[in-house]
Amino acid sequence: MKTHLLIIGSGVAGLTLAVKYAEAFPKKNITIVTKGDEDESNTKYAQGGVAVVLDYKTDSFQKHIEDTLIAGDGLCNKAVVNMVITEGPKRLKELMVWGAQFDVNQTGKLDLGKEGGHSQNRVVHYKDITGYEIERALLARVHQLKNISILAYHFAIDLITEHQLKLVSKNINCFGAYVLHQKTGEILTIQADNTVLASGGIGRLYGHTTNPTIATGDGIAMAYRAKARIKDMEFVQFHPTALCTNREGSAFLISEAVRGFGAYLRTKDGNRFMPNYDVRAELASRDIVSQSIDTELKKTRDSCVYLDCTHLNIEGFKHHFPNIYKTCLDNNIDIGKDWIPVVPASHYVCGGIEVDVDGKTSITNLFACGECSRTGLHGANRLASNSLLEALVYAHSIFEYLCKNLVSVKEQMLPFWDDKGTSIPKEHILIIHNLKKLQTLMRDYVGIVRSDNQLLKATKQLDIIHKEVEELYKTSKVTTTLCELRNMVNVAHLIIGQSLKRKQNKGGFFNVNNI
Ligand code: FAD
Ligand code: SIN
Repeated sequence: MKTHLLIIGSGVAGLTLAVKYAEAFPKKNITIVTKGDEDESNTKYAQGGVAVVLDYKTDSFQKHIEDTLIAGDGLCNKAVVNMVITEGPKRLKELMVWGAQFDVNQTGKLDLGKEGGHSQNRVVHYKDITGYEIERALLARVHQLKNISILAYHFAIDLITEHQLKLVSKNINCFGAYVLHQKTGEILTIQADNTVLASGGIGRLYGHTTNPTIATGDGIAMAYRAKARIKDMEFVQFHPTALCTNREGSAFLISEAVRGFGAYLRTKDGNRFMPNYDVRAELASRDIVSQSIDTELKKTRDSCVYLDCTHLNIEGFKHHFPNIYKTCLDNNIDIGKDWIPVVPASHYVCGGIEVDVDGKTSITNLFACGECSRTGLHGANRLASNSLLEALVYAHSIFEYLCKNLVSVKEQMLPFWDDKGTSIPKEHILIIHNLKKLQTLMRDYVGIVRSDNQLLKATKQLDIIHKEVEELYKTSKVTTTLCELRNMVNVAHLIIGQSLKRKQNKGGFFNVNNI
């Protein structure tokens, strides 16, 4: 199969780029492959909103830039921060032209929420389901464009580079990807002039996460195996306030915007502890709030802390956060009377596939966009609601680069997927068992607070899992779960390895041996 532009992933990053490219080049075809339902993504669950400077009376680009740099703890790329923040309003407007709705206030202007680390109200939102609305609007636009094919339930297994062609070259080129049709088991060889990884985050490496099941770091692992540069993987962001329940699986998020609305964090005995850690109290940046909760939980030996909304305007709360209000009620929590039990959960990866300002990776004809990329915007800790913004801005940067560099890549005879000598994996239990082991080791040894000793233990345990999984992969016909596990093992290796190399605590990275 041949396509001009192959996009792996159908979240905000992939869909935005697809729409722009398809509108500008109606004669070129775009193929989006996505491994589940077409809307399943981290994007769909985004709550707080998109951070954009709109109210020039109280806010300014400079203030948003400062807040981003402070949150990033000295490791942001200032030129990138400047570019992303000043582009924000234009990209938001575009999204609205495509049909995305955002809440307005009584004066008819966009309503601006507040989140941790922001000195001003600047978070544009649609209730507390902003991501759902953005995904809806983008998919609706995609469906109107005849030159985009969206292949749901198609799992990208690996990129095709010189390695698969058995060629030796100094410069690595990407020719497309091998893609598993998840319903038939067939493996497609998709040849593309340009390939874009827009495959999202890594939350599932930790059993306890705000991310849906698709977040298994596939794009980062594929790029790593293809020898692209991967950076800053030690900066895994833990969201301070995931709803604490006894259920396994994805944790429901209680948006940071709830603290922006005035909620307090308390220990079980009512102590409002955040003012002891930071003058911004509950609205300190996410790294500080999560680390403070971790400290409190270690002191008290409790399993959660609480968000207290009882002093807030409950009608106003219901209006802004209807989904959170309802989900709490479904869990027998009446936020007008009860405190919400919350605990940090893995949420976002600040690092990823290194890209330049055009979204180019270190591999020719391969781009990365959105959460799987590492642009330099976030440094050591992402400022809340800067992720959707980053994806919108970088989708535009890649689009602009492609407009100026419209070259068709030389035809190549790509080899078909070779699975001779493999059989259907019989030992599914091995996949489940190793996934559990991986998630346990990431939770226990590679969490909010790390140590050299724990990281070395994690390395040893990961080596054992790696051997078993590679053995299984070499002898089995590929399945989605097996590929995902293999990818998660690769990503865990990157997080642990890069954590061991970092000798200074910064932002979301804290190793007790670095004190
Ligand atoms: P995603 O939206 O995750 O999309 C990735 C896509 O790639 C999916 O379609 C997936 O199926 C596909 N994919 C992955 N691997 C493969 C493969 N091997 N083959 C084929 N397809 C594949 N950020 C903000 O800025 N503001 C917020 O308010 C906010 N709230 C959040 C709330 C929650 C609960 C979560 C989880 C995240 C939140 N974030 C927020 C972060 C933000 O939503 C994500 O970082 C952003 O949406 C990522 O977009 P993306 O397009 O890069 O990836
Ligand atoms: C939230 O609503 O708290 C999530 C915001 C984000 O991850 O940027």
